Amino acid sequence: MAKTASLKIDDKPFDLPIMTGSEGEQAIDVRRLRAESGYICFDQGYGNTGSCESNITYLDGDNGILRHRGYPIEQLAQHSDFVETAYLVIYGELPTEKQRNHFGTLLRKNAAIETQMQRIFEGFPDDAPPMAMLSSIVASLAAHYPELATNNFERDLQNFDLAAAMAISKIRTIGAMLYRYQNGMPYVHPKDIPFCENFLHMMFSEPYKDYVAEPEIAKALNLLLLLHADHEQNCSTSTVRMVGSSAANLFTSLSAGISALSGPLHGGANTAVMNMLQMIHDEGDDGTRFIEAAKSGSKSSRLMGFGHAVYRNFDPRAKIIGDACEKVLAKLGIDDPLLEIARNLEQAALKDDYFLSRKLYPNVDFYSGIIMRALGIPVNMFTVVFAIGRAPGWIANWREVASQPKGRIYRPRQIYSGPVKRDYTPMGDRG
Ligand code: CMC
Repeated sequence: MAKTASLKIDDKPFDLPIMTGSEGEQAIDVRRLRAESGYICFDQGYGNTGSCESNITYLDGDNGILRHRGYPIEQLAQHSDFVETAYLVIYGELPTEKQRNHFGTLLRKNAAIETQMQRIFEGFPDDAPPMAMLSSIVASLAAHYPELATNNFERDLQNFDLAAAMAISKIRTIGAMLYRYQNGMPYVHPKDIPFCENFLHMMFSEPYKDYVAEPEIAKALNLLLLLHADHEQNCSTSTVRMVGSSAANLFTSLSAGISALSGPLHGGANTAVMNMLQMIHDEGDDGTRFIEAAKSGSKSSRLMGFGHAVYRNFDPRAKIIGDACEKVLAKLGIDDPLLEIARNLEQAALKDDYFLSRKLYPNVDFYSGIIMRALGIPVNMFTVVFAIGRAPGWIANWREVASQPKGRIYRPRQIYSGPVKRDYTPMGDRG
C-alpha cells in the first residue's frame, strides 16, 4: 500500500500521499490540501518546499553530494569538459562522438553577434554593471530571433536545439563583448576554435595579435565553467523555471535567471569574496581580525564565500576548486597573496565554533575568484563568467518545464498580513 502522512486539523484527519525520489528523498504531497482543508503550507523562501520533480541534478547538502544526471561532479571535473557536461545536463546523457561534434558545430556556428545587435551595446553607459548589460542583451535575443522565441512551448521546443546552442554560445560572446565595450576596446569576433579558448580570444586579443590561451588556462576555465553548470533549484534556476512556466520563451527566461544571479547572496558572491580578500590585504590583516568581525551576525560583515542555503557540509565544488586553485597558480607561476589570506580564513573558520556550530563551510565562490584573477578576468566580470557556466543548467530546467504535458504556471500563495478591509477615504478627509 502507498505510504501516506496523516495531518489532523481540529480533529479532522487528512491523508497526504508520500512521494519518493529516485535517490530516496521523501516529500509530503500537499497539492490537494488546500482544496480539501482550506489550509495552505507556509514556507517562507521555499526552504523546505519541493517546487518540481526534476531529473537533472541530485544534490544532498547534508552529505556534500552533487551529481548531474547521476554522474558525480568529482568524475565530471576529472574527465569531462564544459561543453560535454553542458550536453549531459541539457540532454540527459553523455554525448556520442557524433552528438558531441554536432553540438560543437552548432555552438561555433552560432557564436557571433550580428551588427544590428552590436548596436545595443552602445546604448549603455560604459560603466554599466556588466550583469545588467548581460541580462538586457540576452533578453533582446528574443527580439532578434523571434522564430525561436514564440512563447509557445510546442513551437519553441521544435527549435530547441538551435535556441539552446545559440544561448550558450552567444551568452559567452556577449560576455566578452561587453568587457571590450566597457574598456573602450574594439570587439573581437569569435573564431572556429574550442569554446573556452574562444572566450579568452574574444576577451584578450589585441590589434594584430591574437590571444592564444595556454592549455593550463583553457583547462582551468573549462573546470570553472563545468563546476557551475547546474545546481538544482537555486534562486536563478527557480527563477528561470518560474518565468518559463508562463510559456515565456527560452531567451526571456534566461534573462530573468541572469538578473537573479546578479545578487551578492547568489552569483555576485564571487565578486564579494574578491573585494573582501582585497580589503583584508589592503588593511594589512592576515584574516584574523576579519574572522572576529564576521562572527557579529551582521549581514554586512559576513565571511563571503562561506555558508550555503543547502550545503550543511563541504560544498563538493569548493573542494575541487580549492585544490585546482593551488595547481593553476603554481603552473602559471603566480604567487597571489590573496590565496594565502583565503587559506588563513578557511583554516581559522574550520576551527572556530561559530562557523562549525552553524555548519558554515567554504562554498564554490570562495576560491573561484582567485582562479579567475589568475586567468586575467577582472573582478567585475566574475558573475558574468558564472552566468556563462550556469547557462546549461538554466536551459535544461527551462526545457523540463516546457516539456511537461501537465505542467502548470508557477503560482505560490501567501499569508496576507496587511490591513483588513477598510473604506476609501477622499483626499480632503485624510488629515
Ligand atoms: N558569515 C558569517 N555568518 C554567517 C554566514 C557567513 N558567510 N552565513 C551565515 N551566517 C550565520 C548567520 O548570521 C546565522 O547566524 P545566527 O543563527 O546566529 O543568526 C546562521 O549563520 C545561519 O544563516 P542564514 O542566513 O540563516 O543562512 P542561509 O542558509 O539563509 O544563508 C547564505 C545562506 C549563502 C545566503 C549565507 O550563508 C551567506 O550570506 N553566505 C555568504 C554569501 C555567499 O557566499 N553566497 C554564495 C552562496 S554559493 C553560490 C551560489 O550557489 O549562488
